[in-house]
Amino acid sequence: EKGGWSSFMAKEISEEPDAVANTILGRVHEGEVVLPELAGLDTMLSDIDRVIIIACGTASYSGLLGKYAIEKWARIPVEVELSHEFRYREPVLTPRTLVVSISQSGETMDTLMAVKYAIANGARTLSICNTQGATIARESDAVVYTHAGPEVAVASTKAFVAQITALYLFGLHLARVRGELAHADGAKSIAELQAIPKKIEQVLKSAPEITQLAKWMSDTRAVLFLGRHVGYPIALEGALKLKELAYIHAEGFAAGELKHGPIALIEPGQPVFVVVPSPRDPNSLHAKVVSNIQEIRARGARILAIAEEGDVAVLPFADEVIRIPLAAPLFEPLLTVIPLQLFAMELATAKGLDVDQPRNLAKSVTVE
Ligand code: F6R
Repeated sequence: EKGGWSSFMAKEISEEPDAVANTILGRVHEGEVVLPELAGLDTMLSDIDRVIIIACGTASYSGLLGKYAIEKWARIPVEVELSHEFRYREPVLTPRTLVVSISQSGETMDTLMAVKYAIANGARTLSICNTQGATIARESDAVVYTHAGPEVAVASTKAFVAQITALYLFGLHLARVRGELAHADGAKSIAELQAIPKKIEQVLKSAPEITQLAKWMSDTRAVLFLGRHVGYPIALEGALKLKELAYIHAEGFAAGELKHGPIALIEPGQPVFVVVPSPRDPNSLHAKVVSNIQEIRARGARILAIAEEGDVAVLPFADEVIRIPLAAPLFEPLLTVIPLQLFAMELATAKGLDVDQPRNLAKSVTVE
């Protein structure tokens, strides 16, 4: 039941700190990730030479974040592909390929068929799934469950943060098995992850601010989302949420891609959400994204920045700044996605739409 919340979606967003905490629960021991469900698979995990992540929609964006983390920690090539594309292009699969499927429902037909294809073609399979005993979980060699609890609203929210959490745990486990990560570095990342639930609670406090913003923007016809590095999948997710809930044209771009085309879309008044990397980022992406903001601001864009607390560089150029607590770069998406989920929900609400049951969509897509 909704338990006092206006919608299942509102309730499920409020449960995001628990979705992350419960997915970590019982899986950390003395600064190391322990995944009993992968016991006995160390040889296989050491032998693989490639990972292919397959998923659809929101789950595929968690997959992109999984790629960034797994490549960084475990130094193994990772590709991310939409399940329905993967299966029909004769992908190269060998017994040393690990195909990781991600699915909240565990019943998505496109992903199930892709997993079956991977098995039939000799690859190893692992699934990341939120539903105990689901078909995709049963078909795979191994499963790492997310513990987000049942997700009822059609739009995925708490399952997404749980998927990122599970992928990061898997990445740390894989890195250790393959001898690619020093104990101290792994322990530091685990501590970062364990600190996330409290930080999400912090972000949830900006909900009233976002409700106001959504009300002001209720007649907006198009919204753009920009992000770079781990902010890029979040830009894609922010756009998908807005499309499916508020029926508004929305598009997410990699900020570096702006000058290769999308900047032509900027006209006076165009709202653009920008996921701003931390100014502490070692790659200095912060300065690059701030300069992107200046470029589009000069062309009249309305900038809605999602930026770290204390980042003052964005202030002169942003019309609104939504603050997130400090986190290491890979962990920022678990925080930056929350305002975008809230925004889509509140804009749909402001338009009088049913946020739990958007038109034309089903919770579990069991047809191809
Ligand atoms: C977006 C959304 C969909 C699902 C996609 C995959 O809010 O809910 O994009 O993420 O249909 O579903 P699962 O994870 O059940 O395979």
